[in-house]
Amino acid sequence: MTISVIGISGSPRRHGNTETLLDRFLAGAADEGADVEKVVIRGMNYRSCQGCNACHKTGVCVLKDDFTPLFERILETDVIALSSPIYSMGITAELKALIDRAQVFWARKFLLKNLYFDYDHIKSHKGVFLSTAGQNWDHVFDGAYPVVTAFFNDLGFEYWDNVIANNMDAYGGIRGHPTALDEAYEKGGKVVRSVAHLRDASENQARVDRTE
Ligand SMILES: Cc1cc2nc3c(=O)[nH]c(=O)nc-3n(C[C@H](O)[C@H](O)[C@H](O)COP(=O)(O)O)c2cc1C
Repeated sequence: MTISVIGISGSPRRHGNTETLLDRFLAGAADEGADVEKVVIRGMNYRSCQGCNACHKTGVCVLKDDFTPLFERILETDVIALSSPIYSMGITAELKALIDRAQVFWARKFLLKNLYFDYDHIKSHKGVFLSTAGQNWDHVFDGAYPVVTAFFNDLGFEYWDNVIANNMDAYGGIRGHPTALDEAYEKGGKVVRSVAHLRDASENQARVDRTE
């Protein structure tokens, strides 16, 4: 079965530094044979979490909008790539809105206990974070990591790797960066190979189990 990759663009600026980085990642994944989909949050019809806590009791979000079918696809995909530029030392409001809406899965896992991802599932479902920042500080991404970690944990993905590029102001944008676009392309291919390898290993193990 083809490996599926969803790339989510959390930048409000279309075809800017971060979406361009995501495009290269998805190109690398597609060239490795994956089925890729890019989702641009800007322009989608959505609301951020209202904090009503209804999902704590029902396991269902009361909001019905473009995020509703997106979460269904995210739960089915093998690889999820979240992307956002750094805004005020964190991720954008667009990506944060999506991540907060994943609270329903947190509620299902930890309160209602009707959602569970086993070790093999988490190992074979990979999450990647791509980001760009204007400043040259290495720690400019530090505010983003715990937030994307929460999302990957809630939805059963192993936090596989990052593609980050700082110093956009000095480079004059992502196309001036010496390595980031190549790194994104390479990691797009590598994550697909990694999932394919795990899938082959588990199918071989199932075959051995059947013959024993
Ligand atoms: C509202 C806003 C806040 C920003 N805050 C930061 C910041 O805290 N640190 C930083 O390094 N860059 C910051 N930047 C710069 C962006 O992270 C940078 O230009 C990024 O590459 C833009 O990506 P994009 O082209 O995908 O929008 C900010 C930009 C905007 C518009």
